[in-house]
Amino acid sequence: MRSFLGRDILSLKEFDRHEYFRVFEVAAELEPYARDRRNGDLLKHKTLVTAFYQPSTRTRLATEAAMHRLGGHVTGFADAKMTRAGDFYQEGIQDTVKMLEYYGDVIAMRHYQQGAPHEAAMHASVPVINCGDGWGEHPTQVLTDLFTIHRMRGTLDGLTWVLIGDMRMRTMHSISYALSKFDAQVYVISPDEMFFLPEFAEEVTDMGLRWERKEHINQVIGEADVIYMEPVVQPDYTKAREEAREDKGRTPENYQVTKKLLFEHAKPNAIVLHSLPRQDELSTDVDNTRFQRYWVEAYNGVLTRMALLALILGAIE
Ligand code: CP
Repeated sequence: MRSFLGRDILSLKEFDRHEYFRVFEVAAELEPYARDRRNGDLLKHKTLVTAFYQPSTRTRLATEAAMHRLGGHVTGFADAKMTRAGDFYQEGIQDTVKMLEYYGDVIAMRHYQQGAPHEAAMHASVPVINCGDGWGEHPTQVLTDLFTIHRMRGTLDGLTWVLIGDMRMRTMHSISYALSKFDAQVYVISPDEMFFLPEFAEEVTDMGLRWERKEHINQVIGEADVIYMEPVVQPDYTKAREEAREDKGRTPENYQVTKKLLFEHAKPNAIVLHSLPRQDELSTDVDNTRFQRYWVEAYNGVLTRMALLALILGAIE
């Protein structure tokens, strides 16, 4: 297993099985800080810089909360419009990062351009964490998802996954890379225009992902151990921001999960995950059922990010 010390977290493509389990182990070790709601001092000499060029509720705040829980410091921006990257100058990644690297010890970046955190990592002398890059990847979200499933089921092997929604989403790319390392049967349900790009489908197949396309959730709901969702009513993730439209459209039934569907057809211990925010593909009546695990991810997301920060910054070997 490679050391996490000083490492960029840009993609799950290269993560091996042991590395997932090491992150989970450290997350469990650090859990008392989050569970007892008290901040420690493990990273008291370190500073996190958040560079968010695209809106975020969960990822930025969970990463910042993780740093605070470990006694570290946080600086950064949540809206590039308030920086020189978002005004007349349109300052590029390279120049921006040459500044940020002196303001802290690790950079957490979300960007609308696929590969922007990778470019940042090429120029930064401190580690960069990809917090979502365009349609690219979302490694910390998927680490949280897998941690959640591992906690519930005690394993990541032998499970059947339904990936449903927009397959261009960064979470769908990261989860596909991750599941290629485990014994997983994957069913993929998505509109044609939102399906995996052919080169991505070929890549994950070559990596060993066992997947099959289906048209309708009804075809596979009874087999699913995990139903992993994204909307099909989506903004364009290659833009810095997209305002709400009056008529966003409705999600076809093929891609919808409801309480009725789950109680009538799902396995009793099936788990529904959604990275959120949702539209109408996941009805709110699922929230108070035994299937729902997306709220606990708020908590688990702090644990996994504490683990990553502690490992990357060398507080834990
Ligand atoms: N899960 C997720 O990426 O949510 P945010 O966009 O709110 O960070």
